[in-house]
Amino acid sequence: MTHISELLNDDSVGKRFTIRGWVYRIRSTGKLTFVVMRDSTGIIQVLARGDRLDENTYKEIEGMTVESSCEFTGTVRKDERAVTGYEMDAESFRLYHRNENFPITRDKGEEFLLDNRHLWLRSREMTSVLKVRSTIFRAYSDFFYENGFYQVQAPMMVSTAVEGGSTLFKVPFFDEEVNLTQSSQFYLETMIFSLENVFTLAPSFRAEKSRTRRHLTEYWHGEAECAWVDNSGMMDIEERMIVYIVKRVLEENSDDLAELKRDVSKLEKVKQPFPRVRYAELMKMAAGWGLGLKYGDDLGADEERAITVHFDRPVFVTHYPASLKAFYHRPDPENPSEVLCHDLLAPEGYGEIIGGGERIWELDVLLKRMEENGLRPEDYYWYIDLRRYGSVPHSGFGLGMDRLAMWVMGLDHIRDAIPYPRTVRRTRP
Ligand code: 4AD
Ligand code: MG
Repeated sequence: MTHISELLNDDSVGKRFTIRGWVYRIRSTGKLTFVVMRDSTGIIQVLARGDRLDENTYKEIEGMTVESSCEFTGTVRKDERAVTGYEMDAESFRLYHRNENFPITRDKGEEFLLDNRHLWLRSREMTSVLKVRSTIFRAYSDFFYENGFYQVQAPMMVSTAVEGGSTLFKVPFFDEEVNLTQSSQFYLETMIFSLENVFTLAPSFRAEKSRTRRHLTEYWHGEAECAWVDNSGMMDIEERMIVYIVKRVLEENSDDLAELKRDVSKLEKVKQPFPRVRYAELMKMAAGWGLGLKYGDDLGADEERAITVHFDRPVFVTHYPASLKAFYHRPDPENPSEVLCHDLLAPEGYGEIIGGGERIWELDVLLKRMEENGLRPEDYYWYIDLRRYGSVPHSGFGLGMDRLAMWVMGLDHIRDAIPYPRTVRRTRP
């Protein structure tokens, strides 16, 4: 058995191969049937000739429908007219499954395609999305392994809230209730005391009612946590990580990026260093761009879109007012009303893909911030303990993998960056 992509070069010309896959397109002129076959690697035209094959075999080929599964053996020939420049002359054939009326046809709308996501994933476009996504996930892990991090796992059913109560999913847990995790950060923090540098890749859940192009209720969260690293050291690591992932996609997925019509010149600009702008500074710049923003305003999808069109590479926004960020961020000792944090905003209007920063590591500061936020210390006893026993300065971040994928592929909507999007209105398929 050979994969189709291996046939699409001059070395295969004149040789016999067996391929198997699915019918991508089929048309017949009576004595000749042209079948464009698809497998995970590509497409190739197969020519079946009524005068060369026995009658039953030819009839079976001719009677196939789009997405039927089958196997062809034949000889490869160069042919400029064929869709990928090569054609296979069918010599033998085996049908696995002939289907009736594949539901997806050209004219189907977005909702229909979402209802039939399990079938739409076979499209050339979604196949490319899945391949790029695979590279992104692999490169993300490779980066950390290559830099001396350990991969760790945290629970998804938790009793604490990392990012505030308003976006928590509560689920029954025997006679109690638990939350679906919003972030593995606190658990990662516990593990730096044994491993120093850790990362994880897991789903996070947000009961976000906001129907923007960049919100999912279940998304893939890449998180890392490092002992002895400050806010700016953390940004150094993230910058290298993003450049590494983008480079890997450019190297490994050029065909997929072309299929998705991604302007790769935009990705080629993703080089170090990324600009670092303080929140207060950004507000001044925003005024210059005519955006009606003032100090203290939070940045939502619209604001970030308006800001990031002014940058050609990702930009770090640092030192947000403490009021805009969760309780665990470390106040800037030089100006405690601001915290030592950063968001990384992707260019071209995409906006926030990373949230991170330095954690409070002093016990008294943490207890004070928790009290201000109305959190009960007993619920967070284990998190507080980390500041009681050998506390160290440390920092970390969370990367929205689906948002990263959306930007890298230049997609309009986050739901197209993930195989089975979970949004406010969608839990099927
Ligand atoms: O900015 P967030 O809320 O930060 C945290 O959860 C930190 N505890 C992470 C950490 O420091 N370990 O979320 C981090 C990232 C965001 O920048 C965004 O990319 C993504 O997670 N994200 C979402 N992605 C898709 N849909 C949603 N509803 C998302 N909410 C956050
Ligand atoms: Mg954030």
